[in-house]
Amino acid sequence: MRNRAIGIFDSGLGGLTAARELMKVLPSEDIIYFGDTGRVPYGNKSVDTIKKYAKQDVNFLLSNNVKAIIAACGTVSSVAKDLYNTVPVPYTGVLRPTAKAALNATKNGRIGVIGTTATINSHSYKNHISELSKDAEVFEVDCPLFVPLVENGFTDSEDIIVKSVVERYVSPLLEKGVDTLILGCTHYPILKNAIGKAMGENVTLIDSGRATALYTAELLRENNLLREEKTEGTYKFYVSDTPDNFENLAGVFLGKNIDNQVTQIQIEEY
Ligand code: DGL
Repeated sequence: MRNRAIGIFDSGLGGLTAARELMKVLPSEDIIYFGDTGRVPYGNKSVDTIKKYAKQDVNFLLSNNVKAIIAACGTVSSVAKDLYNTVPVPYTGVLRPTAKAALNATKNGRIGVIGTTATINSHSYKNHISELSKDAEVFEVDCPLFVPLVENGFTDSEDIIVKSVVERYVSPLLEKGVDTLILGCTHYPILKNAIGKAMGENVTLIDSGRATALYTAELLRENNLLREEKTEGTYKFYVSDTPDNFENLAGVFLGKNIDNQVTQIQIEEY
């Protein structure tokens, strides 16, 4: 069991923000990544559709004998909560680790959350934070254009389109005086430079990918599931649309050439 891979999934590229951090934190672990690129974005879909997609993503990873699963997706973590009780291996979403990291970071107790429309409508981060602290105030904004920007390679913080979309979404949070901002969708750390510039250096950005990778390392340790061999981990990538676009963008993001290492699957069959 310990030597099996860790499964990570998201609607597309976003979960790579967790995968990349996990590669740093646990370099000996094998990773199987699934990006549902044929059905991205999830964040503007109905609750039932997101639940159905999440179940299929989990089933695909389980069919690959993974030892643990990370839903590296704020939308799935917020909407498909029943998965926590049904997945037969250790399973985590991004909410808990990210909410905790934000509470550790804030000094004035004013926390902003940006996420997909489904995530913001669920108030998942707000609810999680209020369970952990009575004093924190949470301000939420959905940013439905961020995922399409990232999936189409618009990530440069100097790009006029990126700049204006980011400023439009985050300026209400600046007016609220938040000192901490949760990037509540795993795609958003890919826009971190642009978001950081718009928020200014006094606001701490909480990367849900990083917080989740650190939490997963703890989860595996607690369950005695860390890989025994200390050789470098291997990575496999799967997508539900043609691999080309994912290969290019993911390769740049991970800083590794992954050409010919991405396989297309039929996710509807799972
Ligand atoms: N990266 C995902 C999230 O964290 C999914 C975004 C989407 O597909 O809309 O919410």
